[in-house]
Amino acid sequence: MTNIFALAIHGGAGTILRSTMTKELQTQYEQGLKDALSAGYTILEKKGNSVDAVAAAVMCLEDNPLFNAGKGAVFNNIGKHEMDAAIMNGKTLEAGAVCGISTVKNPVLLAKTTMLYSGHVMLAGSGAEEFALSQNLQFENDAYFYTQQRYDQWQEALVENKVQLDHTEKKMGTVGAVALDCFGNLAAATSTGGMTNKKFGRIGDSPVIGAGTYANNATCAVSCTGHGELFIRLVVAYDISCLMEYKGLSLKEACDLVVYNKLVAINGEGGLIAIDKAGNIELSFNSEGMYRASIDINGNSIIKIYKD
Ligand code: GLY
Repeated sequence: MTNIFALAIHGGAGTILRSTMTKELQTQYEQGLKDALSAGYTILEKKGNSVDAVAAAVMCLEDNPLFNAGKGAVFNNIGKHEMDAAIMNGKTLEAGAVCGISTVKNPVLLAKTTMLYSGHVMLAGSGAEEFALSQNLQFENDAYFYTQQRYDQWQEALVENKVQLDHTEKKMGTVGAVALDCFGNLAAATSTGGMTNKKFGRIGDSPVIGAGTYANNATCAVSCTGHGELFIRLVVAYDISCLMEYKGLSLKEACDLVVYNKLVAINGEGGLIAIDKAGNIELSFNSEGMYRASIDINGNSIIKIYKD
């Protein structure tokens, strides 16, 4: 056991501008990030493991209506919530993922339960929800997942679709966490409502192991946020791990290459958080902003939203 542990979280990347943010709202976002950081870090401080820490941090973000996951999940094109989540243990390479679920309060907890008890890696839709029932997880109805802000965003997107065929929706959000625990083990977790007005049945990168979520003690743990289709096509999280493993790049070099070069080359807007086995942290994004926070191995914490 060591005294070295660290945690990073994100609450989504996208068009986040100072000019469109009120002071009150910014304070609420910062408090939400602080609460999630504290939920995960408390576990690490008490010599808990990285899987539990990332799950706790992500659950806290899922319970906060400001973030696009769990309670704050966006509406799809038929006015429903379809959520995706994943978790991965860097020590064992065990992983759990769920996609297209609508009634489970904490999708990341279902992903963790899937990893631990289902004998499978990925469960979808009604099968995932039936498994959640068998594991006594908490369910919520449509009213719980309704937020006025998300409903208004969906209505706005619907209207824009009617008048603009090549509509580009920039209301991307997702939450995630990566951690190194005092046993030297890495973990990553990601949860999302996807993209506003997405097609019914669309699955993003978050639950796809290697695309939006990946952890491997040999290299790093990564959780992504952004335009999922592009992150799937570039297998972003695993690519960062591979660049470290096969090419000997540092965490920073690998993240810079993927986020600022490879993703940009295919218009893949978004970002990611990553941590390596030494506890180095990267919070990289090529969008206007990314809700993000971390506590490094020296106990120094940061909470940031914008580019500068
Ligand atoms: N990055 C989340 C999604 O595209 O669903």
